[in-house]
Amino acid sequence: MAVRRESKHGLWSSRTAFIFAATGSAVGLGNVWKFPYITGENGGGAFVLIYLVCILLIGIPVLIAEILIGRRARQNPVHAFASLAQESGASSAWSLLGVAGVLASFTILSYYVVIMSWAFAYIFYTGSGHFGGENAEMVGQDFAGFLSRWPEMIAWTTLMVVMTMIVVAGGVRRGLERVVSTMMPGIVVILGVLIVYSIFDGRFWAGFTFLFAPDFGEISRDSIIVALGHAFFTLSLASGAMVAYGAYVPQEMSIAKTGILIAIADTAVALMAGLAIFPLVFAYELTPSIGPGLIFATLPIAFGEMPFGAFFGTLFFIMLFLAAFTSAISLLEPSVVLIMERFGLTRTRAVGIVGSAIWLCSMPTVLSQNVLSGFHPIGVGVLKGKTIFDILDFLTSNVMLPLGGFFTALFTAWIMSRESTRDELAMGASPWFAAWHFVLRYIAPIAIVIIFLNLIGVLKF
Ligand code: TRP
Repeated sequence: MAVRRESKHGLWSSRTAFIFAATGSAVGLGNVWKFPYITGENGGGAFVLIYLVCILLIGIPVLIAEILIGRRARQNPVHAFASLAQESGASSAWSLLGVAGVLASFTILSYYVVIMSWAFAYIFYTGSGHFGGENAEMVGQDFAGFLSRWPEMIAWTTLMVVMTMIVVAGGVRRGLERVVSTMMPGIVVILGVLIVYSIFDGRFWAGFTFLFAPDFGEISRDSIIVALGHAFFTLSLASGAMVAYGAYVPQEMSIAKTGILIAIADTAVALMAGLAIFPLVFAYELTPSIGPGLIFATLPIAFGEMPFGAFFGTLFFIMLFLAAFTSAISLLEPSVVLIMERFGLTRTRAVGIVGSAIWLCSMPTVLSQNVLSGFHPIGVGVLKGKTIFDILDFLTSNVMLPLGGFFTALFTAWIMSRESTRDELAMGASPWFAAWHFVLRYIAPIAIVIIFLNLIGVLKF
């Protein structure tokens, strides 16, 4: 049996510190912005159900696997896959899985900063009392106007990139814990306020029913891959983030329990966001499927009419921004570490290079909302009629992440020995271990393959 490695980087001060960092990465725009809008686009309850099954059956087992891989190897993701593969006598080409993860984080960050800039800009729009007394139509027009002002959006996006660069250049761990420990309770409280408000207003149940009463007639063919892709996205999987954080985890921490806890917190925030948003959508007869602008076209209506709305609204967008920011940090870090080590650069220089590249790559997403909104570069298949931003989002969440998850499952359950994974999880002969191993060995990979075959039309269901 292989000896355990001591971390080169020092350990998290405690289990709590790891939970904060991992939750900070997981809870972000995915929960509050993306989950509601894809749920709206995919017809509600049935989609939510499929999403929850994906989290439970694939997301949580892969999350546990990634933390395990990180802690076992105590190295950055690229080296972690290489050295664990070597330990099992497998090819060092498995390190490509680490590289693919870095590429996925980079691509996601290139559009993530743009959406984050919307949340940031809305702190000021809401805070200035702009939405006071506005009706649904005016709020919608405000957002459309905002999207059309691309020079302004470039300015906000630039600010986001620079802020993320500054934090990552300073070393990520300082301050992260404090930010997350404010953001998590903050976001739960503010979503709670919105939910309670809609209960008193009598419009809660329409939203609740939409989210939790499954109607499988509403599902379209790519709904399943969208649900699966989002399970990976929202838990920050298949990108090296959780492997990287796992490298700092203390040996006595239970990986399985902690992983489950993080997934529950993440799912709770997403469901709360849905419960805050959909009552408004139906009360104002808006279309649930309007896409990425959903929260920006709905929540300000509530902030415009409720008591202390400007206050709550400002607080909401501050929390959303902080949630996004802690995720953005975990999206930038892997690329920075990779090129630091690969080319022997200082952290500051690596941040400068990767950050500039991110800024440049964010421009097509900014312009997809206005100047290039009619530009649909691909004319066939699922990508037909999509803007550059839509394509980036689809390819990362629904292709790169599930593929990464597929290989991570194979790696953990077929390449690593059962003894070493059992030893690392410290679950002894527990049936839970057997179940987890079985899922990663068979269920998750087969499910991912079937969902892909459905997407490309080989299988149809
Ligand atoms: N999970 C974050 C969210 O829901 C986004 C995120 C952070 C992410 N790190 C990631 C997504 C790595 C995929 C891979 O907003």
